[in-house]
Amino acid sequence: MTQSVIVTGGGQGIGRRIVLTLAERGTSVCIVDTNKERGAAVVDEVAAAGGRAIAVRGDVSSFADCQAAVADTLDAFGSLNGIVSNAAIFSTLPMRPFWEIPEEEWDMVMAVNLKGIWQMARAALAPLQAAENASIVNMSSSTVMMGRQNYAHYVGSKAGVIGLSRAMARELGEYNVRVNALTPGPIFTEVPRASVTPEQRVQLVNAQSLKRPGSTEDIADVVAFLLGPDSRFMTGQTVNVDGGMMHI
Ligand SMILES: NC(=O)c1ccc[n+]([C@@H]2O[C@H](COP(=O)([O-])OP(=O)(O)OC[C@H]3O[C@@H](n4cnc5c(N)ncnc54)[C@H](O)[C@@H]3O)[C@@H](O)[C@H]2O)c1
Repeated sequence: MTQSVIVTGGGQGIGRRIVLTLAERGTSVCIVDTNKERGAAVVDEVAAAGGRAIAVRGDVSSFADCQAAVADTLDAFGSLNGIVSNAAIFSTLPMRPFWEIPEEEWDMVMAVNLKGIWQMARAALAPLQAAENASIVNMSSSTVMMGRQNYAHYVGSKAGVIGLSRAMARELGEYNVRVNALTPGPIFTEVPRASVTPEQRVQLVNAQSLKRPGSTEDIADVVAFLLGPDSRFMTGQTVNVDGGMMHI
């Protein structure tokens, strides 16, 4: 298992579960989130369970914030072997046709969801290259395969995450740094989402081969696999975890 990992957006939802799962398995985790209080609350949960975590307030679209988070991780844990780029503008996003999306909202979604992954990876480059087996997991979405309507900036940003991960995998392979993208299907977390009605939620589950809602644990376990030694010969891949909604 990777020993020291940054999880962006680890203050709630899928990111929170990833932090808890990794910490349970002995990984030291640095949570980078714009919401420091939520990150600190997850650190308390980790500590109560006997794990090691720190929380840093940081915006992944800012290179300076990413550099500061990497420095804090190295100060706290002495090494950095993995990044889970999970932060995104997602649950707060209003749904509307692409022609009604305000330009500043478009730019913000791209800056966080796509550029943020580039910023964090380049800020962490030196320690990742120095590590023996480093791994980056970038959170995309199965909505890329679906092309869900009324979310064009989000879907476009998540499609970009797949291409960016493939390109980064080519450039980092010689350093034995692996880069994979993960595409979760619909995952209902503790965070309420106005964008999916109860009826749509039932329809989404019915569209899966496995007839139960996906959980944050379903995603966190695959993230742990992609960070760890069992996936050592996998890079540049897009791993779809959606109960068999899309067969890719
Ligand atoms: N929940 C789903 O159904 C689903 C499906 C597919 C993909 N995803 C992806 O999984 C990831 C997590 O989803 P979620 O449902 O937990 O999302 P969420 O919106 O509940 O949580 C996102 C977290 O990221 C943080 N964040 C937002 N902007 C940030 C920034 N600029 N810098 C640092 N942190 C920032 C937020 O504070 C929050 O803690 C996202 O990348 C999302 O796109 C989610």
